[in-house]
Amino acid sequence: MRKLRVGIIGVGAIATDPTHGHIPNYLHLPEVELVAISDVNGNRAQHIANRYNIPLVYTHFREMLANAELDAVSIAVPNYLHAAIAVGCLEKGVHVLVEKPMAMTSRDARRMIDAAHAHKRVLFPGMNNRFREDSRALKLMMQQGALGEVYAAKAGWLSRDGTSDTTSWLTSKAQTGGGPLWDTGIVILDLALWMLGFPKVKSVSGALHNAKGELPQLISPTETSPYPVEDAATALIRFEDGRHLSLEVSTASFTGNNDDIYLRLHGTSGGAELHNPEMKGTDVLRVQGELFGTQMEFAPVLRDSGIPSHRNELKHFVDVCMGRAEPQITTEQGYVGVRVIEAIYESALCGREVAFEVPQVPHIEDSKPELELIPA
Ligand SMILES: NC(=O)c1ccc[n+]([C@@H]2O[C@H](COP(=O)([O-])OP(=O)(O)OC[C@H]3O[C@@H](n4cnc5c(N)ncnc54)[C@H](O)[C@@H]3O)[C@@H](O)[C@H]2O)c1
Repeated sequence: MRKLRVGIIGVGAIATDPTHGHIPNYLHLPEVELVAISDVNGNRAQHIANRYNIPLVYTHFREMLANAELDAVSIAVPNYLHAAIAVGCLEKGVHVLVEKPMAMTSRDARRMIDAAHAHKRVLFPGMNNRFREDSRALKLMMQQGALGEVYAAKAGWLSRDGTSDTTSWLTSKAQTGGGPLWDTGIVILDLALWMLGFPKVKSVSGALHNAKGELPQLISPTETSPYPVEDAATALIRFEDGRHLSLEVSTASFTGNNDDIYLRLHGTSGGAELHNPEMKGTDVLRVQGELFGTQMEFAPVLRDSGIPSHRNELKHFVDVCMGRAEPQITTEQGYVGVRVIEAIYESALCGREVAFEVPQVPHIEDSKPELELIPA
């Protein structure tokens, strides 16, 4: 059986983390051959290649594309590079998994989608939280009607850390896009939209907060992003079907030891709360409903397979590339996430609710991979 030849672009934290990293998790997938890595930091790239026994090392992704005969790549570089590198890979006929956020503007996200369609390659916006065992259990319960009709959701990711390393791209607005909205906000937003079944967004209202003070602030060596950098943001997203989602993110909150990560769903016959997966055990997912005429709270006992969400996500990406599965995260869903974040900034800047407009594009099915990768 022909293996999928995979390359990694950017071998920093999320590419190499022993639990969540792309490289350690690809190495668990027997149908993948991890053949090449590319990183502008050549010393680091060589060090990582030696550690994981990866044969080909490059300092430019285009050199890697020209020489390594890849089928697919993971893109794990700073946010501002996602779009250009993804388009470059798709144009060379290589399938792409791009880390979150897919892009820093909806215009860039659309360029990426157009390139995927034009070159008939998979573009997969990474959102590993959808592949957590607890979030999948909740989605399954919802699909089977456990909560009745879910009419409202509340989602948040509150933390107090930040980076004080002003030499890191993480403190550059031009390279991150902004504050927590582009970092954790887009992740928890995607989780909420997925649970709700991606209803059509009608309008968005947002407010930003800049705490300043003692917290390390993002700095802006080049101000290419039109948006201010927030330490905290709150938003209300209304859907065309009358439902709504409230969202809050912060790096300025007093949250104790763990980040306060939550998704609350309110349904006509039940409710549910999903919390920070680091909490483990029965506190992560709680479901409320009525049984025998009595209101009850359930703490589902989830089998902990020990498989990280990132590995589930990569396995699914590989299945999509090999034509064995339809993508569970579509490019249009990725696009909507980016567009909602943009709309939150737009609303905050003009001080009122904004109508949610997605530029009209002809409806095209997500790219299906060509069949040459299906094992003989
Ligand atoms: N899904 C998740 O759980 C998760 C977690 C962390 C980060 N991320 C995302 O992953 C991306 C990378 O984040 P990180 O924390 O690994 O950052 P990082 O700074 O640790 O690593 C980035 C790497 O990219 C390299 N790089 C920079 N420019 C490059 C280029 N032009 N070509 C090749 N390599 C280049 C850097 O040298 C560095 O090694 C970000 O978009 C971030 O939002 C996702």
